[in-house]
Amino acid sequence: MRRLIAGNWKMHMLRGEAARLAQDVSAGVANLGCDVVLCPPATALASVAAAVAGGGIGIGGQDCHAEPSGAHTGDISAAQLRDAGAEWVILGHSERRRDHAETDDAVRSKVLAAQAAGLRPIVCVGETADQRIGGRDTEVVGWQIVGSLPKDFTGVLAYEPVWAIGTGQLPEMGEIAAMHRFIRDELLRELGGGGASIPILYGGSVNPDNASAVLRLPEVGGALVGGASLVAAEFLAIARAAAALSNGGGAA
Ligand code: PGA
Repeated sequence: MRRLIAGNWKMHMLRGEAARLAQDVSAGVANLGCDVVLCPPATALASVAAAVAGGGIGIGGQDCHAEPSGAHTGDISAAQLRDAGAEWVILGHSERRRDHAETDDAVRSKVLAAQAAGLRPIVCVGETADQRIGGRDTEVVGWQIVGSLPKDFTGVLAYEPVWAIGTGQLPEMGEIAAMHRFIRDELLRELGGGGASIPILYGGSVNPDNASAVLRLPEVGGALVGGASLVAAEFLAIARAAAALSNGGGAA
């Protein structure tokens, strides 16, 4: 299986720095044998798209509005992301669910808008520390899947335990595998046969040291990488780990 490694650059970097990082990544991943997507802040989308043009790297936004256009000051439509060079968009990231009170319903509307505009959504789900301690992690993730995905979902899912994002703490490998198995079953139940082919990424403190162990787990189709995606050498090491597995060393 060819893994997908997506970099979530969050609210980091100005256009020049972003274009330089994109060029460094692009030079390192040429012909690597894994899929790579970079999600810069919206202001840097066009310069990053130009920097990696023709290099086989996908570009993504970090959010879009549910409406195609209108009086929504400060928001960006899916078509505007496409126009700036994006083919992908991260939706429902826990930081947006937290900072902008995004509900599953809102995320689903955005997914529909993104798909209508020809973007591939990367939809994030994941439990908080309290929910996990309370033994509610699968219940929470299950409801997020039911609420956030339309029946004709054609994107990618990312399982990101909120407590693992930016903390250096990961679940046990067995726990990641169990959650991904659970998510696959939920996708099949919700989407029918189409649920079988949806890649499920893991996200939350992925780095060059743990990438290989995470990426070889069954049902882990790749990684959504935050902090480590801001350093070309680290992101490339993760991409190389993915490529090594995609070229025959992996489980599924
Ligand atoms: P992290 O972020 O890799 O810095 O934990 C992941 C994410 O938020 O997508």
